[in-house]
Amino acid sequence: MPENRPRIIRSVRLPQPVEDRITASFDAPPVPTSPLSTDEVFRLAEETKAEGLLVTHHAAIRGADVERIPKSVRIVATVSVGLDHLDVKAILDRGIAVTNTPDVLTDCNADLAMMLIIAASRRVKAYTEIIRNGWGHTLAMDELLGVRVSGKTLGIIGMGRIGQAVAKRAKGFDMKVLYHNRRRLDPLDEHGATWFGNLSDMLPQCQILTLHLPGNPESDSIINAKTLSLLPKGAVFVNAARGILVDEDALLDALNSGHLFGAGLDVCRNEPDPAPRLLAEPNVFMTPHVGSATIETRTAMGMLALDNVVAEVAGKPLLTPVKA
Ligand code: DGY
Repeated sequence: MPENRPRIIRSVRLPQPVEDRITASFDAPPVPTSPLSTDEVFRLAEETKAEGLLVTHHAAIRGADVERIPKSVRIVATVSVGLDHLDVKAILDRGIAVTNTPDVLTDCNADLAMMLIIAASRRVKAYTEIIRNGWGHTLAMDELLGVRVSGKTLGIIGMGRIGQAVAKRAKGFDMKVLYHNRRRLDPLDEHGATWFGNLSDMLPQCQILTLHLPGNPESDSIINAKTLSLLPKGAVFVNAARGILVDEDALLDALNSGHLFGAGLDVCRNEPDPAPRLLAEPNVFMTPHVGSATIETRTAMGMLALDNVVAEVAGKPLLTPVKA
């Protein structure tokens, strides 16, 4: 084998173009058939003296795991924008680089958030059930009506790259867009949205609310009984960010009482085993954490992670380094 083939372990199978590049230019064990656990990633890295670990949230490296990262490892390249499965500071403190895959997944995540907004507002779950059961009767004019999306007031919590991409899309739906962020953005990045420094001031105006902020102890349960009660009756709630952001019992209570019209969720607390009540709720439209799951985006994410490994091994600047 030529010596300049970086040695990597990937915790999941990646799209075919990425796998082809790995075969052509990297030394790596065979494609995992199912996601590898952290222990399996470390074991293989130890055996193969891997320099790079390509991981996703299936193979978290937190707390005591960090000390167990094999000595050969120079970079942890997560194939995600989210970092909640990594103890970034501790990994960096060990002298191991960390990279993620921002930007390349922004559009797809924003597209998915729009899909959830529309699906939850327009009762896609109920209609899909009817079709699955053979349709069979003409719906009455007032039967199973959804709520209109166009022209509504949309609140965005977290106006990073993805939040901004959602704001841009919402303009195409003639929505009035509000956002809550710790600090106000440069007007050019606001895309016509109005900033609220205080979440409680924004919520009563949000007919639709969507979350685009990282999941961490600070944002844990930012959506709870109190914040939900501030939304207007009949609001639609969307979360394509992280499950930890939501108190799910409070969400279900708000749906059952009719305070919320519906919810669209790509994430939940106990992935991949959502609370049965969430699955059973007719007004919850769920997808299985697939914000970035398009051929183009997952390929770009895998390629970017590999580019970062190549850069690290060659002693060149990383493309998307994560700082502590
Ligand atoms: C991300 O990139 O953070 C996605 O949510 C996958 O975890």
